[in-house]
Amino acid sequence: MRQAEAMANHRVERGRGPRPAPRDGRLDAPAFHRNNGVITAQLRDLLKGPGGDVVEVASGSGQHALAFARAMPEVTWWPSDADAASLSSIDAWGRQSGLPNLRPATLLDVTQDPWAPHPPGMPLEAGLRAVVAINLVHIAPWQAAVGIFRGAGRHLGAGGVVLLYGPYKVDGAHTAPSNAAFDADLRARDPAWGVRDTADLAACARDHGLTLTQTLAVPANNMILVFDQSP
Ligand SMILES: C[S@@+](CC[C@H](N)C(=O)[O-])C[C@H]1O[C@@H](n2cnc3c(N)ncnc32)[C@H](O)[C@@H]1O
Repeated sequence: MRQAEAMANHRVERGRGPRPAPRDGRLDAPAFHRNNGVITAQLRDLLKGPGGDVVEVASGSGQHALAFARAMPEVTWWPSDADAASLSSIDAWGRQSGLPNLRPATLLDVTQDPWAPHPPGMPLEAGLRAVVAINLVHIAPWQAAVGIFRGAGRHLGAGGVVLLYGPYKVDGAHTAPSNAAFDADLRARDPAWGVRDTADLAACARDHGLTLTQTLAVPANNMILVFDQSP
């Protein structure tokens, strides 16, 4: 299954092999331990304010979701993934945390049009504060990026944002040789995968009423991209 492969690939991404999963279903993504501190700090800054509902797509192991919910108690965090094994892991981490603002995992494939969360319950009608995707659009076909913006265009509330984290090209060029090598590796695994260009993402976002307003450079040649609703 493609989603399971993506998660497995993620677990061996950039060195360090997979770690054995505890028996309760919690997966451990090695990259989480390297990148979570900076992502959490940036997201807390970007989402500061009165709170609201945030849908995280492609939550994977669920470790980021737990850290985000812990760091932003005013935000209600809705983790999700298209892969059932990931849902078990997200919920296992969630149960362990006991955080009241971390909701159970939802099965959500962003390429579905319209989004069909299962079980239903995500407050998509109420107007989301944000849609967040960490390390998704390069480890998925382009349709995943399209699906994020299409869904966000429908479900964000006033002032809502899309936040993407990962490696990106800028004006057709990789920002580091390691990203070029990673891109080649991704495309060798699946020709539909690959490091995306910020201009392509911005154009797709525009089609759904969103504007790329910030590109924040973060360690390991990654970026956080912020898309705001167009005025
Ligand atoms: C590289 S992992 C990233 C996981 C997590 N965000 C992290 O950074 O640790 C990619 C995740 O995207 C999920 N995924 C792939 N295609 C998807 C889709 N169309 N909709 C939702 N999730 C998807 C996979 O199941 C996998 O969990």
